[in-house]
Amino acid sequence: MSKSLINNVEAEFKERFGSKPLVVVSPGRINLIGEHTDYNEGFVFPAAIDKCIVAAIGKSKTQQCMAYALDMSENYAFNLDEVRAIPNGNWKNYIVGVVGELQKKGLEIGPFNLVFAGDIPKGAGLSSSAALENSVVFGLNELFGLKLSKHEMISISQKAEHNYVGVRCGIMDQYASMFGQEDTALLLDCRTQESVSYQLDFKEYGILLINSNVTHNLVDAEYNDRRLVCEKIASLLNVDYLRDADEALLKQIEHKLTPEEYQKGLYVIQENSRVLKACKAIENHDLKTLGKLLFEAHHGARFQFKISCPELDFLVEEAQSHPQVIGARMMGGGFGGCTINIVHHDTMQDFIASISDNYYKKFGKHCSVYKVKLSQGTHLIQN
Ligand code: GLA
Repeated sequence: MSKSLINNVEAEFKERFGSKPLVVVSPGRINLIGEHTDYNEGFVFPAAIDKCIVAAIGKSKTQQCMAYALDMSENYAFNLDEVRAIPNGNWKNYIVGVVGELQKKGLEIGPFNLVFAGDIPKGAGLSSSAALENSVVFGLNELFGLKLSKHEMISISQKAEHNYVGVRCGIMDQYASMFGQEDTALLLDCRTQESVSYQLDFKEYGILLINSNVTHNLVDAEYNDRRLVCEKIASLLNVDYLRDADEALLKQIEHKLTPEEYQKGLYVIQENSRVLKACKAIENHDLKTLGKLLFEAHHGARFQFKISCPELDFLVEEAQSHPQVIGARMMGGGFGGCTINIVHHDTMQDFIASISDNYYKKFGKHCSVYKVKLSQGTHLIQN
């Protein structure tokens, strides 16, 4: 977490609004394994990281709310009695979304001022949006004494995304960003929304993210489409969610599905069990199996669930051909963003140099590389 980011946001708030704000830090997340399983009430294995949104928030002396996105130098002023989704509203919808969902719950907040900035690369699949939502709901909860639990807060963040941004996301991103712990990944059961903490120490191996720098503009529609397919299959199976299905059950209704739909259902069922196998592998300090599961997950994401893209596939293939990389896969919603790689520390620099070079040669654009630390979830800065 960058101290200068915190100082800049706080200073900007003081300058604009002349008072001392509450300052909230809310992290992005990675996910070791388990994509598109969360909205099927399955398992995921995320962790909060040391890239975050910093939000400074304070009560307003006027009737108006004022939000300022420091990184973009953009302002948005609104009144609490006219909160609605803004067409192409971008970051504004995460803020009004949280406010609107608090109001729907009958919670009373007053006018407030907000300044935020962050160092989570956008469109990289690191959940800058969940981090922003969580920072706003956490800040408002504190400022107006709403007494919401963390579970209630993440539910508000998620609904903001559904109803104001238009993405019918699961709970993984908001959960990981809110509940993250240092050096720890969370095996989250998305049905109970309870998690088990795993202290991650891969010894001579480290986690490396490689951003394809591809941001797909149809992502939201594709994402919602995948969710609809899963819901359709669950309803044909007579279960609430695909979490409740296994391969044998799916086989029974194969004739009612297109081959593409069948593969998508199969992917979710298999991905869910991969998450549990990955946990076992970590418990057994069996990194080889963990790595193999990551490669398998990518294969499923690419050929079955069809959420990859040529750039991500290339990055994973490159990783696979490097003997010191034990596992790699695309991470997050798909169609762009990052791969997550488990790489031997001794050869990390070589790997970075060769993959960066080859990526540029192949696509004529650069990839970006991030080493991240697993970090604490959304919290207030005490000063
Ligand atoms: C996005 C969504 C999450 C999850 C992932 C895919 O990040 O916000 O809820 O579905 O995609 O695993």
